[in-house]
Amino acid sequence: MIYPIHIIGSPVLRKVAKDISPDYPNLEKIIENLKATMYDSDGVGLAAPQVGKSIRIFVIDASPLAEDEPELENFKKIFINAHITERTGNEYAFNEGCLSIPGIREDVNRPEKIRMKYVDENFEEHEEEFDGLAARVIQHEYDHLDGKLFTDHLSPLRKRIIKSKLAGISKGKFTAKYAVHLAKG
Ligand code: NI
Repeated sequence: MIYPIHIIGSPVLRKVAKDISPDYPNLEKIIENLKATMYDSDGVGLAAPQVGKSIRIFVIDASPLAEDEPELENFKKIFINAHITERTGNEYAFNEGCLSIPGIREDVNRPEKIRMKYVDENFEEHEEEFDGLAARVIQHEYDHLDGKLFTDHLSPLRKRIIKSKLAGISKGKFTAKYAVHLAKG
């Protein structure tokens, strides 16, 4: 099934998500649905909190970015219980958007390189280094697990400039080609 995507203002997007165990109910189905929802919305990544589930899972398919970085052609992965252990390299700006903040794109500064522990869908443990666009996409999705959004990284001035736009989006003032969930009230 395709999940509706939670839009900025929905409280689940601000929660720190929890690790899960292999016996988490319907885990296989959830992973399948996360992928289906990502493809349906043309996202390169999707994190579980964005579909209302406060658990540490995100999925990535960065193949649409292979034009810029050919080695991303086969970068399709599921990350469970992800924890970044190191961020290194110079920070650089890259234009980001988010399915939970439709219509907004901003340059976001993030470090070049990360080291991350996670388990895959078979709960096998990994600790890997990522750089380039892979590290970029991972850090964006990872932020969702910690209740952060890319707009949190903007300068105080940029934040002030887009503040009322974000408030409008949280009330439904946007168009999106995918199903969405807005906070009540
Ligand atoms: Ni996002």
